[in-house]
Amino acid sequence: MANYTDTIEMNASQLAMELEYRYGAHNYKPMPVVLERGLGVHVWDVEGKQYLDFLSAYSAVSQGHCHPKIVDAMIAQAQKLTLTSRAFYNDKLGECEKFLCEYFGFDKVLMMNSGVEGGETALKLTRKWAYKVKGIEPNKAKTIYASGNFWGRTLAAISASTDPSSTNDYGPFLPGFEIIPFDDLEALENAFESDANIAGFMVEPIQGEAGVVVPKEGYLKGVRELCTKYNVLFIADEVQTGIGRTGKRLACDWEGVKPDILVLGKALSGGVMPVSAALADDEVMLTIAPGEHGSTYGGNPLACAVTIAALQVVIDENLADNAEKMGQLFRSRMSDLQKQCSLIEVVRGKGLLNAIVINDTEDSPTAMNLCYKMMEKGLLCKPTHGNKIRFAPPLVINEKQMNEACDIIEQVFLENA
Ligand SMILES: Cc1ncc(COP(=O)(O)O)c(C=O)c1O
Repeated sequence: MANYTDTIEMNASQLAMELEYRYGAHNYKPMPVVLERGLGVHVWDVEGKQYLDFLSAYSAVSQGHCHPKIVDAMIAQAQKLTLTSRAFYNDKLGECEKFLCEYFGFDKVLMMNSGVEGGETALKLTRKWAYKVKGIEPNKAKTIYASGNFWGRTLAAISASTDPSSTNDYGPFLPGFEIIPFDDLEALENAFESDANIAGFMVEPIQGEAGVVVPKEGYLKGVRELCTKYNVLFIADEVQTGIGRTGKRLACDWEGVKPDILVLGKALSGGVMPVSAALADDEVMLTIAPGEHGSTYGGNPLACAVTIAALQVVIDENLADNAEKMGQLFRSRMSDLQKQCSLIEVVRGKGLLNAIVINDTEDSPTAMNLCYKMMEKGLLCKPTHGNKIRFAPPLVINEKQMNEACDIIEQVFLENA
């Protein structure tokens, strides 16, 4: 990298990248684009170039960048009261909790900040329930996860991970975690049958980070039935799939199942600030007593005002329906492209959570090179796990914008086939 004196010669993008490289930890390798503004499905870089955002901050900006109703709610609340901690009541938390419980159909909610904290909350609830309700001997409770899962970066989350880039040199890991294959009900039943200490099974209804892996129809229903049969909690990690992303309120709604614990994050606050939540009925939620779990910022009035506004936008603008329609358009255009382009191995997804699997090895640079070319033409996306490119635009996208994006993808794939 250049010396500090060289920064005088740099343009605005180069300077921003240089500063991040010099002063920030190297825990990410972003695409070389420096964004300074966003509105709806668009973002603009510091040189003024416009892009269609087909990542939406990993599905967090579902309501579109800087949605005026969410931003207005945030500003109004920020001018009144931002943080009280949970040492005191505030006039927004109860209102937000009621909204969440009624909308998602649970008795209670526990609000946190990041998605991984929502997952941690689900895990802690599961262990409490295991000892206090199910009657598992102290410290013996186990939870099961599916291989390829991703639920964040804390030590608990990576203790469940099967991805070496998440786990390398971070051991020792938390005990009491087991892994079975994804989309395999037989393996799930075998695990439940062979061990009475299993308290919970946590699963993404569609594995997002693994490359938008959609299970067979009936999987979630089967999980629900097995969890009920063996008295194991079904924990649905809908941090990425929830809140309209897959074309319904929740991905679980596609199979009409209700999990015992629902974890939400990302779009819960429309990309405006970190907010997450774990929802459950009283039998599970009331196993945690005052002082046994929490967070200084969890359930702060600012987050609550933003969350209510963000969910209201999803409801008022029928974003789940739009995700379903626009997703069908995307997959139909990409399936047509697949017929003309040997670079595409698979097109898959639900609603506006989609991926193209590139016909090359996981460690090949092909997918990344395609993303660079799409970026040059004004569309932002990024590979996940080497050869898979995820396409997850804000759910506010319209038909014209979707066709414009598909034209760019088509051009780039055909030019580089
Ligand atoms: C399914 C799922 N769960 C949990 C998380 C963790 O969320 P956060 O990065 O906000 O901690 C993610 C993040 O990508 C996710 O995709």
